[in-house]
Amino acid sequence: MKKTYRSEYFGSVKKLQLFMHLVLGIDVGASGVKGALVDVQNGRLQGERYRVPTPQPATPEAMAAAFAEIVAFFSYKGPVGCGFPAIVKKGVAYSAANIDAGWIGVSVEETFSRACGAPVWATNDADAAGMAEMRYGAGRGEPGVVILITIGTGLGSALFYRGMLVPNTELGHLLWERGKPAEAFCSSVARERSKISRADWAKRFNKYLHHLERLFSPDLFILGGGESKYFDQYAEYLNPKANVVPAQLLNNAGIIGAAVYAAENAAVFITG
Ligand code: BGC
Repeated sequence: MKKTYRSEYFGSVKKLQLFMHLVLGIDVGASGVKGALVDVQNGRLQGERYRVPTPQPATPEAMAAAFAEIVAFFSYKGPVGCGFPAIVKKGVAYSAANIDAGWIGVSVEETFSRACGAPVWATNDADAAGMAEMRYGAGRGEPGVVILITIGTGLGSALFYRGMLVPNTELGHLLWERGKPAEAFCSSVARERSKISRADWAKRFNKYLHHLERLFSPDLFILGGGESKYFDQYAEYLNPKANVVPAQLLNNAGIIGAAVYAAENAAVFITG
């Protein structure tokens, strides 16, 4: 086994196998940190979600304590999956749009592993949600280009072709107006801040979808994040050529995708 800070958590392959059925997934958001045990064989949550508010400022130390509180709540010691609201490469954060800038260059995996006493695998939060939707939700069996947009504090994106993810696409940061990114106008926080109706927001969001369509010619758009549960209230304003559907796993997609990501990476880690 490769020796890293994670090695200490795994005594044997046998021990790991016990964890590979139910895996803890944690979706770290700019406003809340939510976790649940996930049956990674069928993508279903087992039992209740546990949520703590994201500490402000969202520094590595403060967020690590919130993360550890969730792991402790489940009395869990196996591989933990983490969806994180930033560019994440090899477990390290490379941006901080809606979290404290102190995260840039910091290993999310190492910080959270040390705080909670269990091995953590971290990936971008929208990529995690996308992986779950492609496997168990609205993107299942879709062979073409799929773009999932999570609508919440920020705008997250996940891009797939033939089911393969292109990670860290950050399409919420396409420049929109006055040098500001699309998420500053089209996220749910932007809608609340500018006090516009959901219908007016949806017309604006529709322009964003049309822009993405010009760039990527997707076959399917999946809308996730907190706003996905209100899809029926704004679907009539969205008219790109591609089909637009809400995330089937709603706001749990991030938790489920994070758990699947950890299960797969832990399996690779332990076997070779
Ligand atoms: C971040 C992304 C994240 C998205 C949703 C954006 O501000 O840059 O990395 O996926 O918010 O949380």
